[in-house]
Amino acid sequence: AVVAPVIAIDGPSASGKGTVAARVAAALGWDYLDSGALYRLTALAAQKAGVAWDDEAGVAALAASLDVSFAEGEVCLAGEDVGDAIRSEDISGGASAVAALPAVREALLFRQRAFRVAPGLVADGRDMGSVVFPDARVKVFLTASAEVRAERRYKQLIEKGFSASLDKILQELRTRDERDSQRAVAPLQQNVDAQLLETSNLTIEQAVAQVLAWQQACGADS
Ligand code: CDP
Ligand code: CDP
Repeated sequence: AVVAPVIAIDGPSASGKGTVAARVAAALGWDYLDSGALYRLTALAAQKAGVAWDDEAGVAALAASLDVSFAEGEVCLAGEDVGDAIRSEDISGGASAVAALPAVREALLFRQRAFRVAPGLVADGRDMGSVVFPDARVKVFLTASAEVRAERRYKQLIEKGFSASLDKILQELRTRDERDSQRAVAPLQQNVDAQLLETSNLTIEQAVAQVLAWQQACGADS
């Protein structure tokens, strides 16, 4: 059987991975996987169940049995729309904490691979090209300076009507970058076989166009 092609987009927080990945998927008519949402949902499920974020066996059991659905931009946990709840600062920290536990990553591995269906998948996260889809046809490491990323996250929050502090966001972002890069399993890093996409001075449209150009350069079988 022919396996569906994958475009893997990895990179640090607020670099624009999700936005670019979703637009590339829409342009190609492919599915889109926000792998970070699975870690966020796991952290939220643990919080709801009263399981501590450092209880590896407990959190991994929850990750393996997560009742999630993604439909029309909604993220549901046990039928409840938790799209906003999983974006809170608290759950962002929790996601990064549970993501450092090997048993949790193992439990989510097969769930992520199940998203690979024809005609193709665009997946974003930290280890899409290195661990989850090592045979991805296009691998991108999408990044931007910490200052630009903090600014992007800040604008995003203000536009949604939340109050936010740019300094605090920058600080939180650096803490999470550090933890995501230093952990023993699947650390955030640019893989040797990934194309670097530095977007500090690129618009979303330019970043999307670059990924589509790399995809086209890989052969036009889809
Ligand atoms: O949107 P942002 O980049 O800030 O975060 P996210 O992609 O939603 O991921 C939330 C957290 O989950 C990250 O801080 C990572 O620790 C973890 N994560 C991971 O370890 N591996 C992935 N493939 C995706 C996310
Ligand atoms: O998924 P990730 O955390 O990497 O980032 P995101 O939520 O997709 O993007 C963060 C914000 O940056 C969004 O509001 C995007 O519209 C914005 N962005 C931008 O302003 N310029 C870019 N070149 C890419 C993203």
